[in-house]
Amino acid sequence: MLGTQLLLLLILVIQSTGQLIRSFEMLIKTDQQFECSNTTCLPYSLTKAVNIGDCQVICLSQTQCQAATFHYSNSNCELFDNIVYQFGIMLNNIDTITMSVISGTRFSVGYNSINVQNRTIYPLTGFQPLNLAVKDINGDNKPDILTIDRSSSGMGVLLNRGNRTFFPEVLHTTGSAPFVVAVGDLNNDSKPDAVVSNTGSLAIGILINAGSGTFYPEYNLTIGGNVNPITIADVNNDNKLDILYSFWSSHSVGVFFNDGNATFSSRTSYATDASPIGIEYIDVNNDNQRDIITSNSDSNTVSILLGKGNATFFPQSTYPVGISPSSLAVADLNGDDSPDIVVTNSVSNTTSVLINRGNGSFLTQVLYNVGNGPSSVKIYDMNNDGYPDIIVANSNSNNIGILINKGDGSFFNQATFSVGANPSAIVVDDIDSDGKSDIIVTNSGSNNIAILYQN
Ligand SMILES: *[C@@H]1O[C@H](CO)[C@@H](O)[C@H](O)[C@H]1NC(C)=O
Ligand SMILES: *[C@@H]1O[C@H](CO)[C@@H](O)[C@H](O)[C@H]1NC(C)=O
Ligand SMILES: *[C@@H]1O[C@H](CO)[C@@H](O)[C@H](O)[C@H]1NC(C)=O
Ligand SMILES: *[C@@H]1O[C@H](CO)[C@@H](O)[C@H](O)[C@H]1NC(C)=O
Ligand SMILES: *[C@@H]1O[C@H](CO)[C@@H](O)[C@H](O)[C@H]1NC(C)=O
Ligand SMILES: *[C@@H]1O[C@H](CO)[C@@H](O)[C@H](O)[C@H]1NC(C)=O
Ligand SMILES: *[C@@H]1O[C@H](CO)[C@@H](O)[C@H](O)[C@H]1NC(C)=O
Ligand SMILES: *[C@@H]1O[C@H](CO)[C@@H](O)[C@H](O)[C@H]1NC(C)=O
Ligand SMILES: *[C@@H]1O[C@H](CO)[C@@H](O)[C@H](O)[C@H]1NC(C)=O
Repeated sequence: MLGTQLLLLLILVIQSTGQLIRSFEMLIKTDQQFECSNTTCLPYSLTKAVNIGDCQVICLSQTQCQAATFHYSNSNCELFDNIVYQFGIMLNNIDTITMSVISGTRFSVGYNSINVQNRTIYPLTGFQPLNLAVKDINGDNKPDILTIDRSSSGMGVLLNRGNRTFFPEVLHTTGSAPFVVAVGDLNNDSKPDAVVSNTGSLAIGILINAGSGTFYPEYNLTIGGNVNPITIADVNNDNKLDILYSFWSSHSVGVFFNDGNATFSSRTSYATDASPIGIEYIDVNNDNQRDIITSNSDSNTVSILLGKGNATFFPQSTYPVGISPSSLAVADLNGDDSPDIVVTNSVSNTTSVLINRGNGSFLTQVLYNVGNGPSSVKIYDMNNDGYPDIIVANSNSNNIGILINKGDGSFFNQATFSVGANPSAIVVDDIDSDGKSDIIVTNSGSNNIAILYQN
C-alpha cells in the first residue's frame, strides 16, 4: 500500500441513547501524512488514541477539527483545524493514516445531546386536538398548554405543575370547529389572552385572561368566511397588538386593529394566492419593516407581501412549493441574517426550503422528503450547535421528523420519533424548565398530547 492514495468514504456513526446518531464522512489517505514545514500547517492538538476510530471520535467531538492523522507506532492522534495548504503535498509514511472531514457532511457537536426518546402522553377531555400554544397563563413562570379541541368546540387549558405533570384539562367553549389558537396580551394587563379561529362559525374568538389560569367567555369578531391561522402582532406601529389572520376562503390576509383594550373596530385585508393557510409576520428584506408570508394551500405557492411600515404592503410576489402546502415557518437557516422559508407540503409529503437572497426574494425551493401528510413545521436549534433545525409533524405517519441543519441551510434526512395518532401541531419550548427544549405535540387522532422531553 506504500505510496498509494486510497480514497475511501468512511461513515462514522455513534449510536446515542436516543434514536439520533452523529456522524461525518471522511476522506481517507492511507500510509500518508501531511508534509508540514511551518506553524500554519501544524496540528492544533496532539493526543493519544487507542486506534484510528478513537482518533476519529476525538476529531468529531471538536468543532474546529478538519482532519486527523493517526500514528500506529506511538498512538499519537494529531488534529488539524486548517488543511487548505496540505493536500497537494502529502508525505508517504506507512506508520500513519490521515483522514479529512468532507465538508458539509458533519453533524455538529451537540447532535448527540438530543435525546427526545422520553415521550410522555397526557390525555385530554376534549376531542380532536388540532392546535396548541405554550405560554405561562397563570403567572407562575411555568409554561402552560392551550389546545384547540376541534370537535368539542373548545379551548383546553393545561396548567403546568412543574414536575412534568399537568393539572387536568379545563375546557372553555369556543365558536364551532375551532382550528388554531394564538396568544398575546391584547388589553395591556400583562396577562396573555387567547385568540382562536372558528372555522365553523366563521369568526375569530377572543378569550381574555381572567387571571389564575382562567379565561372570560369568548367574544367574537365576525369574519363571514373561513379563517385559518392567526398571528398576533402590532401591524400599525401603535404599540397595541393587532390580529393578523389568513382568510382562507377569500384568498387574502386580514388585520383587525386593536383599539387598545381588546376591542377591534377597524379591519383591512390584503390579497394573496388561493387559500392561505400558514401565516408569518417577520421582516424578510432587512428594511426593519415586517412583511407578511403565507403558504397557499390551493395554489401551491407561498406569498410574500413586503411591508411599507404603516400597515400597507406591496402586492404579493409568489414562489412555487409542493402540493397542498400546510404549515409555514420562517427563520434564518444559513446564518446570513436573512430569514428563510420552510413549508410542509401535505399531499406531496415533502418539506420545501426557500433560501432568502438577502433582499426578500427567494431562491427556487429545495425539497426534502418527510413522512406522510406533514401538517405542522417549526424551526428550532434542537442540538445547540447554533444552526436551526426543522421539526415536522407527519400526520399520517404518526411521528415527528427532525431534519438537522448541516450548517449551511441544507439538511440531513429526517430522523423520526413516534408520538401518537395523527400529530397535528408542534411547539418547541422548555416545558420542564431544565434548560433543554422539549417538543410538545397534539395528537388529533388519539385525543392526547405527547411531550418529548430532552434530558
Ligand atoms: C507553510 O507551508 C505551506 C506548505 O507546506 C505553504 O503553502 C505556506 O505558504 C506556508 N506558510 C507560511 C506562512 O510560510
Ligand atoms: C423520563 O422522564 C422521567 C420523568 O422525569 C424520568 O424519571 C426518567 O428517568 C426519564 N427516562 C429517561 C430514559 O430519561
Ligand atoms: C407533581 O407535583 C404535584 C403537586 O405539586 C404532586 O401532587 C405530584 O405527585 C407530583 N408528581 C410527580 C410525578 O412528582
Ligand atoms: C359569538 O360568541 C357568542 C357568545 O359566545 C356565541 O353565542 C355566538 O355563537 C358566537 N358567534 C359566532 C359567529 O361565532
Ligand atoms: C401599557 O401599559 C403600560 C403600563 O403598564 C403603559 O406604560 C403603556 O403605555 C401601555 N401601552 C398602551 C399601548 O396602552
Ligand atoms: C375600550 O372599549 C370600550 C368598549 O368596550 C370603548 O368604548 C372604548 O372607547 C375603548 N377605549 C379605548 C381607549 O380604546
Ligand atoms: C405608507 O408608506 C408609504 C411609503 O412610505 C407611502 O407611500 C404611503 O402613502 C403610506 N400610506 C399610508 C396610508 O400612510
Ligand atoms: C435581490 O437580489 C438578487 C440577487 O442579488 C437579484 O437578482 C434580485 O433582482 C434582487 N431582487 C430585488 C427585488 O431587489
Ligand atoms: C403521501 O402520503 C399519503 C398518505 O398520507 C399517501 O397516500 C401518498 O401516496 C403519499 N404521496 C406521495 C407522493 O408519496
